[in-house]
Amino acid sequence: MDYVKTLPRLFDIEDTAMTETHNNGLTGRDVLSVDQFDRDKLAYIFQRTYEMREMVAQVGGCDLLKGHVLACLFYEPSTRTSASFIAAMERLGGGVIPITQGVQFSSVSKGESLPDTIRTLEQYSDVIVLRHPEIGSSKMAAEAAIVPVINAGDGTGEHPTQALLDLFTILDELGRIDGLKVAMVGDLRFGRTVHSLTRLLMQYDVSLRYVSPELLRLPMALMNELIDRGIPVRETHDVAEVIENADVLYVTRVQKERFSDPTQYDEVKDFFRITPEVMAQAKSKMTLMHPLPRVGEIDPVLDSDPRAAYFRQVKNGMFVRMALLAAVLGRA
Ligand code: NCD
Repeated sequence: MDYVKTLPRLFDIEDTAMTETHNNGLTGRDVLSVDQFDRDKLAYIFQRTYEMREMVAQVGGCDLLKGHVLACLFYEPSTRTSASFIAAMERLGGGVIPITQGVQFSSVSKGESLPDTIRTLEQYSDVIVLRHPEIGSSKMAAEAAIVPVINAGDGTGEHPTQALLDLFTILDELGRIDGLKVAMVGDLRFGRTVHSLTRLLMQYDVSLRYVSPELLRLPMALMNELIDRGIPVRETHDVAEVIENADVLYVTRVQKERFSDPTQYDEVKDFFRITPEVMAQAKSKMTLMHPLPRVGEIDPVLDSDPRAAYFRQVKNGMFVRMALLAAVLGRA
């Protein structure tokens, strides 16, 4: 979607002097893919994210989005993504229509189409956050909607806001992105967070390592894109081969819900586990990340290891989404 959508009614360009240059072109735009974010836009969002974090630490919240309403429409389970969007909106003084826990109780169960549900929700709201099991669903919703649509995960496709918070966490934990060695472990085939984070990291001077069983390798098209862009990249089945040199270990859950054959899931579900023994091989400043939920890939004993960043990552999600909502709604 390359045009600016209807701005929220409280937005007044002349009044606030908020122009495209002020917010790096996010106002009134859909957020469907990480490909929309170049390094300048990322720097802009991360700067705003630090300001949001500071503001929450000082006063807990503000009225920046007062009078604005977010519709949160989730056709797949979620804890963090939905809760952090809701918290982000509320900390900025806005309101939320949460359809996150029972789309089956909405008119979707009566057979309403996605475009019709979207066209209805936008009558009440200024921005819509959508999670849906099908690739391309957020694009379809964005085409139907007059207000901006933010993709909160479309099947095995993308999860752009998770990748933004992942990248912010790397920056926050390690102070830089260029020059890092990032290893991603687990379900690289179905894991949409891996796909989106990989696409963001392509813009930086990083080297990438992918660790998975054969069945769950990174999609060929994405791997070819990395190679074409000259990014140093290597695949392996063994975490031990990458752990010593990694600056970031990004661990993911095997995506049980994406397997059509349950025996295949059983074959790979216990492929690896990050334990204190594994972490003993890692750098003292390595960052251990996970988009969560975890189901056994990381031993909870490691939660007290200072390198375990996954709960800080969760909190960063709220700050990043505050920055993004403010930008999209033109109140940056
Ligand atoms: C991820 C997702 O939904 O893709 N979770 C999240 O949004 N934090 C990862 C997962 O479900 O494994």
